Amino acid sequence: QNTQVGIIGAGPAGLTLALLLKCRGIDSVILENRDRPYVESRVRAGLLEQNTVDLFRELGVADRLDREGLEHHGVYLSFNGVRNRVPFTELTGGRCITIYGQQEVVKDLIRANLDQGTLIHFEATATRIDGLETDSPMIHYEQNGEAHTLTCDFVAGCDGYHGIARKHLPEGSYNEFRIEYPFSWLGILAHAKPSSNELIYAYHERGFALHSLRSETVSRLYIQVANDDHIDNWTDEQIWDELELRLGDNNGFRLNRGEIFEKGITPMRSFMIDSMQYGRLFLAGDAAHIVPPTGGKGLNLAVADVKIMAGALTDYYETGQTTRLAAYTSDCLRRIWRVQDFSNTMTYLFHKQAKHGSFENQLQQAKFDYISRSTAMATTIAENYVGLKDV
Ligand code: FAD
Ligand code: DHB
Repeated sequence: QNTQVGIIGAGPAGLTLALLLKCRGIDSVILENRDRPYVESRVRAGLLEQNTVDLFRELGVADRLDREGLEHHGVYLSFNGVRNRVPFTELTGGRCITIYGQQEVVKDLIRANLDQGTLIHFEATATRIDGLETDSPMIHYEQNGEAHTLTCDFVAGCDGYHGIARKHLPEGSYNEFRIEYPFSWLGILAHAKPSSNELIYAYHERGFALHSLRSETVSRLYIQVANDDHIDNWTDEQIWDELELRLGDNNGFRLNRGEIFEKGITPMRSFMIDSMQYGRLFLAGDAAHIVPPTGGKGLNLAVADVKIMAGALTDYYETGQTTRLAAYTSDCLRRIWRVQDFSNTMTYLFHKQAKHGSFENQLQQAKFDYISRSTAMATTIAENYVGLKDV
């Protein structure tokens, strides 16, 4: 089989890339390891920044997002029970975030791709890529126990952190950066009416907590736990008690409780490589970088990468020029480092690392106080959170 762009991975990066290419007349085929129900039900992120929503609208895939997504015009930051709101609208010239589950995004993007005639091979596992230095690289993949190849002009590695694409960058062609944080997130989804109309990020001496939501009847909540903790160590009641304590506002805050229908523990890491391409291979999204989830940036960064990749590929097909393809990594890195910094800052600001009352902890408190008192500092948080426009 032949196509112009062979895309590995049907996550937000691969699916958005295929749509961007299609509307510029460039064909692609997507290879996805998992089956369709699995990909469409995998619970992950839920926060879309303004740039992402704008792009989905441009692509004509935002009908359901516009109906069901929840626009938020501010966020609550809480430290030791003192809650402070950062208003986005005033501080960012009217920009905001939208809450809409990643699995809903993925469902919409798969449907749009299939409607437009883009082939998605599910349960097709890419195993190896050949000929990246030539004009017709080949992706080898396995489906139903049989070996296949997809020959293309370019390979887009959108196969996430554990994918195979990154492993095809030659050793020594890039530097790798990594932080493994000494804590994880225990996350739940529950049939419970959200207890706050906006998100709450909270530092508590027992650790971080986040209140988010998915709809008027579903809450999404997280707490900081140790890396060696296990989900079986927690009863549902213990999870609710801990959340209520950490999210408390010193003012009788009560958390609405309900049936927990999904729970899991996710480790936290920052990961980065400083070259995202080799020959005809270009990486995007989690395949190239991981940010800790504090700040809700992973999905948004994946979409920002493929927007740049699609622009560079379009330029090549329309003019034969390779300048933008050559500049792909450097065009992406500026935004990625910005987001790495924001995600890392939010992580250190709200997680318990040092002893309560220690020097480091007092610095956290001082930073929080400064956000509460300074419009400049609040604006810094707000503009990064809704997503910088032209980084
Ligand atoms: P992915 O969504 O990972 O998509 C990659 C796709 O490639 C997958 O469908 C995979 O099955 C497929 N694939 C892998 N290997 C192969 C292969 N060899 N052949 C074919 N296909 C392959 N971000 C937040 O902002 N907030 C959160 O709360 C949050 N929670 C998360 C929880 C978890 C458990 C994880 C893993 C991530 C979370 N993220 C979160 C990050 C966010 O979900 C990702 O940044 C986002 O999914 C990146 O999109 P992507 O398309 O680059 O990669
Ligand atoms: C959600 C996840 C995040 O990591 C975040 O910073 C905000 C919201 C969520 O799942 O809703």
